[in-house]
Amino acid sequence: MAKNLFIKTYGCQMNVYDSDRMAHSLAAHGYRLVDAAEDADLVVLNTCHIREKAAEKVYSELGRLRRLREARRARDGRELTLAVAGCVAQAEGELLVERAPFVDLVVGPQAYHRLPELLARRARADGAVVDTEFPVESKFDLLEPDQPAQGVSAFLTIQEGCDKFCTFCVVPYTRGAEQSRPVVDILREADGLVASGARELVLLGQNVNAYHGEGPDGRIWGLARLLRRLAELPGLERLRYTTSHPVDMDADLVRAHGELPQLMPFLHLPVQSGSDAVLAAMNRNYSADDFRRVVDDLRAARPDIALSSDFIVGFPGETDADFAATMALVREIGFAQAFSFKYSPRPGTPASGLRRQIADRVKSDRLRELQELLERQAAEFNAASVGSTMPVLLERPGRHPGQLVGRSPYLQAIHVSAGGLTIGDLVQVRVTACHSHSLAGMVVPEAPEPRELPA
Ligand code: SAH
Ligand code: SF4
Ligand code: F3S
Repeated sequence: MAKNLFIKTYGCQMNVYDSDRMAHSLAAHGYRLVDAAEDADLVVLNTCHIREKAAEKVYSELGRLRRLREARRARDGRELTLAVAGCVAQAEGELLVERAPFVDLVVGPQAYHRLPELLARRARADGAVVDTEFPVESKFDLLEPDQPAQGVSAFLTIQEGCDKFCTFCVVPYTRGAEQSRPVVDILREADGLVASGARELVLLGQNVNAYHGEGPDGRIWGLARLLRRLAELPGLERLRYTTSHPVDMDADLVRAHGELPQLMPFLHLPVQSGSDAVLAAMNRNYSADDFRRVVDDLRAARPDIALSSDFIVGFPGETDADFAATMALVREIGFAQAFSFKYSPRPGTPASGLRRQIADRVKSDRLRELQELLERQAAEFNAASVGSTMPVLLERPGRHPGQLVGRSPYLQAIHVSAGGLTIGDLVQVRVTACHSHSLAGMVVPEAPEPRELPA
């Protein structure tokens, strides 16, 4: 009998990708995806442990689901199975069951392929089933293959885990050691995604530019080589990759940005801080000047490249001068987009035990100041696009009837009027207006000369 599945996804794009793969695998076992927990027989929370707030959200959602289950049992006796997947599951394991004993199943990010078996085990068992091992087998080999594209732009995880151990970060513990998928697997999945409607692929990994997978020739391929091979796929218009580490931005990859028209001129490159002392304490393994050099090289290879980044303020020991160095770096480089966070001490990470933790009030002040600057830069970047013409890949319907929304090469959302167009079209758009978080434009017939953004 068909069962209803609802998945709620928190955290990064890798979780979004994992949720799709879980849904696809469970579909083979009779689960149909629905839009709300209220209609579901199985709810999976695919969780994130990166900051305290993200992790705590899971417990409030679990409380809500428990009440939903009780109300339903009282009403018509219908059951609801509650599963927690993802990075909170991995980090907390049995502890999660202690805090929320009503949970049925806890499954870590590397054990999703066992979900059907775990559900069967749960049906036979009395208490919760917990699987947070890092199995020797790769989930990618065992999950249901031939995942169809979820849209015009499709995620494809090519690398997982992290060996970098930044002192603030839980990812090496929740996702395990760095692993790259073999090139043939990636090509097969990419073929399937393009065949089912993807025109853009976003290659994913916690350290995607550290990719070093086995090539069909038996040699180790880096990300640049993989991108060159993917760029040959007929029907694939655009390539992106995220998230990158500055240290792994090697010369070949920088060169690829100058060579491959499919590789979009937008790069998310988290710097975290502009202070060398803080970067060292974070174990990032680069200085602020190293980061500047990487940006210079990228801009030399692809002058119009737009940059995005992540920042942490209030890392233990961060002084006013350290923070000023971050502000100076931002002013100097100029970011098209950015994410910034207050440092959140995470259990089991080295930085959480450091003395000289920063007061929350100071963190808030610094965050506000940084975000004001970053938002101003983002607004300026968008405003500078008005009047220019650029290729836009139409991805989804707009909020208003007769409207479609697409993305510029620089990842800006652009609204156009839909007349005669469909989702998946790649069109030339003249940008006519700039709103707070998106642009508006009109489709023009002619391909213009390539545009260069002002530096
Ligand atoms: N692999 C990526 C980052 C993945 S986590 C990289 O190395 O850059 C995404 C972002 O969350 C990080 O870039 C960082 O800015 C933020 N982050 C991670 N741990 C954090 C913590 N303990 N407190 C606040 N922000 C954190
Ligand atoms: Fe976390 Fe650092 Fe690894 Fe990024 S590189 S996932 S911040 S440990
Ligand atoms: Fe969060 Fe795990 Fe991604 S901690 S950011 S969901 S890798």
